Amino acid sequence: MAGIIAPSILSADVTKLGDDVKLVEAAGAKYLHIDLMDGSFVPSMAYGPAWVKQLRPMTDLFLDVHLMAVHPEKHVKELAEAGADLIGVHVEATPHIHRVLQMIKKAGVKAEVVINPGTPVSAIVPVLSMVDQVLVMTVNPGFGGQAFLPEMTEKIKELSAYKQEHGLDFDIEVDGGINDKTAPMTAAAGANVFVAGSYVYDKKDPAAKVQKLLDLTK
Ligand code: DX5
Ligand code: ZN
Repeated sequence: MAGIIAPSILSADVTKLGDDVKLVEAAGAKYLHIDLMDGSFVPSMAYGPAWVKQLRPMTDLFLDVHLMAVHPEKHVKELAEAGADLIGVHVEATPHIHRVLQMIKKAGVKAEVVINPGTPVSAIVPVLSMVDQVLVMTVNPGFGGQAFLPEMTEKIKELSAYKQEHGLDFDIEVDGGINDKTAPMTAAAGANVFVAGSYVYDKKDPAAKVQKLLDLTK
């Protein structure tokens, strides 16, 4: 199955965001990754539900919202109403991950659980049967442009093996330091959704970068 490419607008040019989104959509990306950062769960701040709301009518891309916030339950309703297709919540951000995932599903949105590099797969086993997607962070969240952590490939393999053994059907997404070298590595380990921010947007020709990632994750 072909990989799904999810360009992250964290690295896009906000002054011409509409153009940057259209470029990657035309190139074959299927998801648009939108990072919401609250300045508490992660050090930096980025975007918010208003961005999701404004992007929604501009694109047919699947809006893949990565919520990096404490008290994630406070944002679910607003994000769902804004037009998010999926909401990802960090297991580290709440003592009530099960409840928050239930809320997301009840809002009619796909549900994702996210794990930081320091969090083991065992921490999310109890909720794996209820999620549509699992995001394995391949950097510590908070900033674009960081280097991929190679030891995360083992974690992806472990999650992929668990999924096979238990007949589950969630997608496995990777986020952080994904480029033409690390995308094939993570694909081989079992990932099928690839977030890429700086690789796609930092230099010239985002469309060519998306096409390259598509070719490399076939
Ligand atoms: C980091 C964010 C990422 C970020 C990835 O906390 O979750 O989505 O945009 O950026 P790159 O691809 O540059 O590592
Ligand atoms: Zn992200």
